Amino acid sequence: MLVLGIDTSCDDTSVAVLENRKILSNIVSSQIQFHSKYGGIVPEIASRKHIEWIWDVTDRAITEAKVDIKDIDLIAVCKGPGLIGSLLVGLCFAKAISFASKKPLIGVNHLEAHIHSVFLEDRYPNFPFLSLIVSGGHTSLYRVEDIGKYKELGRTRDDAAGEAYDKIAKMIGLTYPGGPLIDKLAKEGNGELIKLPKPMLHGTFDFSFSGLKTAVKLILNNLSDEEGGLSDKLRKDISASFQSVVVEVLIEKIKSASERENLKRVVITGGVAANSELRKRALELEKEGFEIYLPSKSLCTDNAAMIAIAGLHRFKKGERSDLYLNARAYLPL
Ligand code: KG4
Ligand code: ZN
Repeated sequence: MLVLGIDTSCDDTSVAVLENRKILSNIVSSQIQFHSKYGGIVPEIASRKHIEWIWDVTDRAITEAKVDIKDIDLIAVCKGPGLIGSLLVGLCFAKAISFASKKPLIGVNHLEAHIHSVFLEDRYPNFPFLSLIVSGGHTSLYRVEDIGKYKELGRTRDDAAGEAYDKIAKMIGLTYPGGPLIDKLAKEGNGELIKLPKPMLHGTFDFSFSGLKTAVKLILNNLSDEEGGLSDKLRKDISASFQSVVVEVLIEKIKSASERENLKRVVITGGVAANSELRKRALELEKEGFEIYLPSKSLCTDNAAMIAIAGLHRFKKGERSDLYLNARAYLPL
């Protein structure tokens, strides 16, 4: 079965073609260069770029997959959560293809797609498993019983982990998105020199990362001119401290949720799951009897192949969407 996947939920225009679980193409066209000078995503720019690019990206995905658009059996599109203007571009485009080609359409939840990205890998888990989604928009922990059966165990009460990375990066003069840059600088810094608060909320699997911004802001405010302001060394040490705190909180929450749920099979996905320290620490849990699943880095960050696989799974369970399908900025699983 050939599935066309479309994701325009945020700033990447992405289209993929799957042949069942096999990725034939997965084009992700990044808009970063248009947003980075603003230190974050500008929704109006994002939706305009999606309109400009969606045809071309689809053409590239079809060409690279060496298929004809007429051969596509299912069109899967992200319906939310995300930026409403951006989502609507992908949704209208998918509906038009579905209507013209008389092929079925299925709307996919972006969070469900992140969870399902692991099924694009050769090694994937049996049900049930725990799933931590750590991205720019979300930090949530689920118990996944089966396809379509998700129990939320916890979520962030303020900033998502990726959002915290991006905001701290901006504060120390790095460009957007800051996650990969902090990841790199942290390797050269000393995480022991600067003490940041560990936002570990007890008695809940919820997260809170916004206090870290205030802590870093205080450090930056107290820098005197005699000390030479924000040096490269300080930038590296702040990166290392911040990253070690975030990773420690994520790992501790996985461990405590696993204990309560009596489940040691864990999938970690979303953009922050591309983080080298988180990947290393997560894999170390295998020594404690955990079964850890980390999709490859390009499948952790936003991409349309994950939309296609989640759509295919829903379709196989008999679900379909009609042309009244609407986009939702807020759409919990
Ligand atoms: O999943 P994603 O591509 O988009 C959303 O659904 O939000 O995640 C993007 C987020 C950004 O905040 C980015 O800074 C973060 O993932 N990110 C990273 C790394 N690569 C991307 N954060 C930490 N370390 C990384 N290596
Ligand atoms: Zn995402």
